[in-house]
Amino acid sequence: MALVTTSKMFEKAFEGKYAIGAFNINNMEIIQAITRAAKAQNSAVILQVSKSALKFAGPGYLKGMVDAAVAETGIDIALHLDHGPDLETVKECIEAGFTSVMFDGSHFDYETNVAKTKEVVDYAHARGVVVEAELGQLAGIEDDVNVAHENATFTDPDQAVDFVKRTGVDSLAVAIGTSHGAYKFKGEARLDFDRLAKITEKLEAEGFRNYPIVLHGASAVDAKSVEICNQYGAQIDGAKGVPNDMLRKACSMAVCKINMDTDLRLGMTAAVRRYLAENPKGFDPRGYLGDARTYLQELVEGKIKDVLGSTDSMN
Ligand code: G3H
Ligand code: 13P
Ligand code: ZN
Repeated sequence: MALVTTSKMFEKAFEGKYAIGAFNINNMEIIQAITRAAKAQNSAVILQVSKSALKFAGPGYLKGMVDAAVAETGIDIALHLDHGPDLETVKECIEAGFTSVMFDGSHFDYETNVAKTKEVVDYAHARGVVVEAELGQLAGIEDDVNVAHENATFTDPDQAVDFVKRTGVDSLAVAIGTSHGAYKFKGEARLDFDRLAKITEKLEAEGFRNYPIVLHGASAVDAKSVEICNQYGAQIDGAKGVPNDMLRKACSMAVCKINMDTDLRLGMTAAVRRYLAENPKGFDPRGYLGDARTYLQELVEGKIKDVLGSTDSMN
């Protein structure tokens, strides 16, 4: 039993009009919650690691814990570098045993993004690792890059085709209106589905059949978690995520990978805050981390079953 790449997962997801959840991991409890949820739903899953998560936990610890999750659950798990900033980080992750990497050159000018992505693709493919890249810019904060809403640029469909052709990248993250974090929309939530359809149409026309698209910034910012956080002392006001029906629509189109981190953060914080408020005498970390793990497992199961539609994708 070993980690897998995302190739087969995406092939099946495109055909089946569902998406595979890509959840950010930072520690053991989060890994256990996600993989046990996936196991309960008989679903494949992607565990992704940001540059700051690499720094926080260390690639060796993360890989070791993910290997344990593979052994425990027996489901298909891909270990993915999220928003890889450079070839050096990509190399570090591939060396540690990651099966998929993202190189995010979306903040560079187009030609630089093409050249740097191609370099990563050549390096990764030679080692059996798949690559995701990004074109267009999402608003929000990830690692050290903070893109203001007014500077976000949506993905150009013609450029997307040219980019895939020239880089040989395995999947493409697009900007169609989502953003990272808990404050995604000032007014009404809106995603540019016409643009998404056009990207696929143009890729198909150039021979890229069933090409997998990735949606970043796809947390729903679940009202329940925000409510519990606020009930137990947080001050999270005006938070807004992507409505579930929009995520379902994206899954039914070419989106095969849906990235969620903020929902896990909110969920974990909600459970920990509630536990500590309700147990003022408690100081055993297994109490609040155990509650957080249970809360997250239920949350991820709900995403797989009701939003992503990847239940039984292991069959
Ligand atoms: O897209 C970014 C993810 O939410 C990771 O965030 O860099 O704080 O781990 P992080
Ligand atoms: P959220 O902030 O919506 O959870 O998005 C996470 C993400 O895109 C990680 O790459
Ligand atoms: Zn992202």
